Amino acid sequence: MTPYNPFSLDQRKYLVTGAASGIGKATSIILAKLGAALILADINEEGLKDTLRECGPGNIVLKLDLLESQLIKPKLMETVTGFGQIHGFVHLAGRPYIAPLKAVSETKCKEIFDINTYAAIELAKAFINKNIYAGERGSVVLVSSVYGIVGSAANVAYAMSKAALHGITKSLSIELAVKDIRVNCVAPGFVKTNMLDTANDMFDDNYAQTINKLHPLGLGEPEDVAFAIAYLLSDAAKWVTGSILNIDGGFTAQ
Ligand SMILES: NC(=O)c1ccc[n+]([C@@H]2O[C@H](COP(=O)([O-])OP(=O)(O)OC[C@H]3O[C@@H](n4cnc5c(N)ncnc54)[C@H](O)[C@@H]3O)[C@@H](O)[C@H]2O)c1
Repeated sequence: MTPYNPFSLDQRKYLVTGAASGIGKATSIILAKLGAALILADINEEGLKDTLRECGPGNIVLKLDLLESQLIKPKLMETVTGFGQIHGFVHLAGRPYIAPLKAVSETKCKEIFDINTYAAIELAKAFINKNIYAGERGSVVLVSSVYGIVGSAANVAYAMSKAALHGITKSLSIELAVKDIRVNCVAPGFVKTNMLDTANDMFDDNYAQTINKLHPLGLGEPEDVAFAIAYLLSDAAKWVTGSILNIDGGFTAQ
């Protein structure tokens, strides 16, 4: 008898963006352990090789620069030929942008928005194509941030890019329900990844302490977010759509 596991992703195929590092890497490894076959996408080819090695056989890599939005659909179309149609995607690729208001540049704002936010729309447009979507039990997970919910100084562009994902999640969940596609979003607090290291490097030691204190349960591990994403992809979440799930060690509970 097959062991009872409503969280199993056996026979499912997903695209993961941002798979080369941090939360994307941890998510890919956990989804693979749960039985999923993955298209691991990122701009960082070296990182992708590492993730592929840890995910094991049956998965493939896709070098994809999400700033080249016109290439998302053709590249995905080409990739699923051979790999097979997919059941959904997780959009984890993202970049921070810490800058006080006076220093915010329009060009950089647009770049952050294109990767963090607009790419989700292009990915969804490509995914619903009948040659790409497996046609049933579809699930999309977008990844925002506590800064899509609460404010913080010197963070307008990143906050904009993440708050906008919440609007996309809710609207797409309504539009795509008819296609049996659920759309949800996770909003992480601070997680120990390269992104956090970059922020820490920009400030003094007080910054790390201040950030730590904002989390009653302490900082997160990439796996803490990955498990929530795995749940949202699985049939255990078959009645969950349009949700924003805070995974933040209590940051936004205060
Ligand atoms: N680490 C945190 O504290 C934290 C908190 C809240 C939300 N998040 C979000 O989680 C997601 C993952 O963050 P992380 O901490 O793992 O960061 P990370 O920097 O480790 O990973 C981000 C990945 O995105 C990829 N990427 C960047 N630009 C790209 C592009 N143009 N095309 C394709 N791939 C591109 C990078 O190569 C990298 O592998 C991001 O969306 C981030 O905003 C992170």
